[in-house]
Amino acid sequence: MNKYKVALIGCGTVGGGVARLLTRDADILRERSGVDLELAYVADKNLEHARSLGLDERLFTDDYTVALSDPNVGLVIELVGGTTIAKKIIEDALRAGKHVVTANKALLAHHGRELLSLARKNGVSIAFEASCGGGIPIIRAIYDGLIANRIDAIYGIVNGTCNYILTKMIKEGTSYKDALAEAQQKGYAEADPFLDVSGTDSAHKLAIMTSMAFGVSVDFDSIPVKGIDELELLDVKYGEELGYVIKLLAVTHRQDNGLCMRVRPAFISVEHPLAWVSDSFNAVSVYGHSTGHTMYYGRGAGDMPTASAVVADIIAIANNTYPVLFNTLPLWQDKTQKATMVPL
Ligand code: HSE
Repeated sequence: MNKYKVALIGCGTVGGGVARLLTRDADILRERSGVDLELAYVADKNLEHARSLGLDERLFTDDYTVALSDPNVGLVIELVGGTTIAKKIIEDALRAGKHVVTANKALLAHHGRELLSLARKNGVSIAFEASCGGGIPIIRAIYDGLIANRIDAIYGIVNGTCNYILTKMIKEGTSYKDALAEAQQKGYAEADPFLDVSGTDSAHKLAIMTSMAFGVSVDFDSIPVKGIDELELLDVKYGEELGYVIKLLAVTHRQDNGLCMRVRPAFISVEHPLAWVSDSFNAVSVYGHSTGHTMYYGRGAGDMPTASAVVADIIAIANNTYPVLFNTLPLWQDKTQKATMVPL
């Protein structure tokens, strides 16, 4: 069995999870996938977290270009996050002929089309299962399992931090501020948690899922977004009295005049399956014209669930199953789609 060498760039919460899967669980990965993955580099400006995990320090570098110039490295895992340095790393990697696996939803929501086009130009793939829904294989469901469907709607809970906060407020009466601090401590929140609570992170994920499902480029700024940062315990209590729970929903549905998209807190009947989604779990419903409703549920944030999605992409690329399916799909097409206004 040939070794497939990969380089990890960014060893924070999710990067640490990926490094652990690739080293500690190498036997499981080999048995399950038939691929022998080797972590060849761990690159970060600050390697303290990598050191605390007890990883082999001979893999460490603070210069990611070292990994890009190694001809034996086939794939680069970008887990730096953000839209500046991460963009340069991905572009450099694609231009160097390396496949890229990333969890970077902000970057894809804003620059998905150009990155996909750069990957195709260089004959490599960019894979991003981990960008939406943590450990849930929602991207695969859309581009693979549901490929025989015209997708008419996608909606769900796609931010673990917000769902954790709302669950704590609903079930334990914890204040918004304390619940957010706990979510940060558990490693669910973004480096800037405003991205979570403002609904922006959910909108990033919605833009990506919409591009995949509807074959469009979404004009990100046209998505109406409202988060949970102005909610109070009183709002939650009122909902409860009326038989509802508050959830932050991300929604796209097809209308005659285009796609209607939004992110906003919504009252959900306690009878609805989305009302049962608690803690950092996510759930996404995809409505296909032949399947009708399908629903995907699982941990939407945290190191190991997200690492699971990252490593699934690595295995698909190493096994050469991902590019075959993915590189011919009409995604992020040239015509940019504005979200239509939400009928109230
Ligand atoms: N901050 C994100 C969340 C992480 O809470 O869902 C997973 O994308």
